[in-house]
Amino acid sequence: MHKVILDTDPGIDDTMAIAYALCHPDIELLGLTTVFGNINIEKATRNAQYVLHMLGATTVKVAKGAAVPIVQNPMPHAEFVHGEDGIGNCYDGSVSYEPTAEHAALQALDAADYIIEQARLYPGEISLIAVGPLTNIAIALEREPKLPELVQQLIIMGGAVTEPGNVSPVAEANFLGDPHAADQVLGASWPATIVGLDVTHQILITDTHLKQLDDNAAKTGELIWQTSRFYVDFYSSKGAAADEQEPACAMHDAAAVAYLLIPDAFGVISGPARVIHDGVAVGQLALDRKGYEYGLTHWQDRPDCQACMQVDDALVLKHFVDTIVNYRLC
Ligand code: BDR
Ligand code: CA
Repeated sequence: MHKVILDTDPGIDDTMAIAYALCHPDIELLGLTTVFGNINIEKATRNAQYVLHMLGATTVKVAKGAAVPIVQNPMPHAEFVHGEDGIGNCYDGSVSYEPTAEHAALQALDAADYIIEQARLYPGEISLIAVGPLTNIAIALEREPKLPELVQQLIIMGGAVTEPGNVSPVAEANFLGDPHAADQVLGASWPATIVGLDVTHQILITDTHLKQLDDNAAKTGELIWQTSRFYVDFYSSKGAAADEQEPACAMHDAAAVAYLLIPDAFGVISGPARVIHDGVAVGQLALDRKGYEYGLTHWQDRPDCQACMQVDDALVLKHFVDTIVNYRLC
């Protein structure tokens, strides 16, 4: 059984990741911690609660996190990718998601303190899965430098080792969202695995898969289908299509959950990593793949982290769809 905290900026693919983690019987979802990113922190926190409500899981805790990056000025949010409300314009506003007795999910602790509290409560047991900018994780690390020893592993959706970026020629959105945080987090000695664009651009979920969820996974499938409409349109406008030109989208954040559940579906490399935090390459992940004595100090004394470079995309897609169909809560 994996105890999981999912740090998220929901987000359409975040919604897929939440559903995946929530439904899989081998995961105990200890909570969602929210962060700015795809949308502002208010919408991210509301969406976390809304998505849990729609998935029939209002008892899963939500802790609100950072509104802005630790150093750099905030980047524009990605409403053009995820919709004005962050979830494909599917939030109907019919329910208030302020904390109430029924929705007592929202925690008094902020995201970083919630992560620390849970890590101390379950030392060595928690898989921390971060699928937004790494701000909350960097803040938690600053408040509790032993955090890397207290968690079992950190899985990060972010960055790209050899694949081009998705928000600049070299930068992936989550790392560009808070490059200082990403660089600090990758400088700490956790067992950390990056599930970046090198693999997530290979896992295209098609409308056939998504319709399968809509047809066979009741309210959970309906939510994924409906929220994905905006996202698939965005990806289609960028020329993303699976085999035979079927409309499709990348399921980035869900791939990080897949890594936890079926790590053998991924091929990894490892090395010390930096994230560039200023200049033309801001947000770029720079992972040393050779281990030479370069004479530069920037990668020296940095711990190795893993980065996924290959993936059995068909296996991941099947595992995701089967999990939702077979184990959905509603
Ligand atoms: C990442 O950026 C966000 O738009 C997605 O939710 C994902 O976490 C992909 O680059
Ligand atoms: Ca995300």
